[in-house]
Amino acid sequence: MYTARDIASLRVRRREWAAAGLKVGLVPTMGFFHEGHLALMRRARELCGRVVVSLFVNPIQFGPGEDLASYPRDLDRDRELAAAAGADLLFVPSEEEMYPAGPPSTRVVPGEMASALCGRFRPGHFDGVCTVVAKLFNMVQPDVAVFGRKDFQQLAIIRRMVRDLDFPVEIIAHPTVREPDGLAMSSRNSYLSPDEREQAVCLVEGMRLAKRLYNEGERSCGRLRQEVSSLISGYPLARIEYVELVDSRSLAPVERADDHTLLALAVRVGSTRLIDNTILADRDLP
Ligand code: PAF
Repeated sequence: MYTARDIASLRVRRREWAAAGLKVGLVPTMGFFHEGHLALMRRARELCGRVVVSLFVNPIQFGPGEDLASYPRDLDRDRELAAAAGADLLFVPSEEEMYPAGPPSTRVVPGEMASALCGRFRPGHFDGVCTVVAKLFNMVQPDVAVFGRKDFQQLAIIRRMVRDLDFPVEIIAHPTVREPDGLAMSSRNSYLSPDEREQAVCLVEGMRLAKRLYNEGERSCGRLRQEVSSLISGYPLARIEYVELVDSRSLAPVERADDHTLLALAVRVGSTRLIDNTILADRDLP
């Protein structure tokens, strides 16, 4: 696996692959790889002749007081894991390489969908995500890009950006990869103390409860939200940021649940912010 730190050498490889007629997949990441990232890389590997993994902790998607400085990093370990998962090129740009003129004054600002869910609590976050993903698409020019469904809102916003701005890239969604007890894998899980780690199952327990109630015929989103919230509130280290039921296509709030309804959660366990989601009708939880 080749490691590129600058856009020029990335482009040299990209041109060689284009000349050889190879399909190129991109997996954008912020590093500190876990099984969830590796599953995205393996999926890209199945679909494409060449796989680029980008690793960049993107400062412009972090708000003041968020975990930019403490975001976990381990490049040597990440390099080994990415190579074993089938990546051909690890793109690790510095902040100066990505934003040579400082924070970019031209940004991709997503519409309505970005003001729901996490957007309410992380103003500007999705502008930062869309801007860096658009830059990565321009740099790598992938045929395919693979994103995890754990960041459902991010995935929906990026799909919309691709449609709105005509990026010639196919977006592939990969199911959330979970620990044996159901906790969604996340680089931020490394912040959890042993007690917090035990209580972090409150998100998946809330989702299991909502699915059971939905399968038993409950359709009132108010009632579902209330049941999930009261289950999570029973975990002393958990503090709910939001428990929302939205239409999975538009992310607009819904009153009556149906097979398109997405339950999305953000919960702080100790000081770690965890998110998760599920479509109520799907049988996707262990
Ligand atoms: O999901 C992430 O890790 C980041 O938001 C992404 C897509 C790599 C953009 O920085």
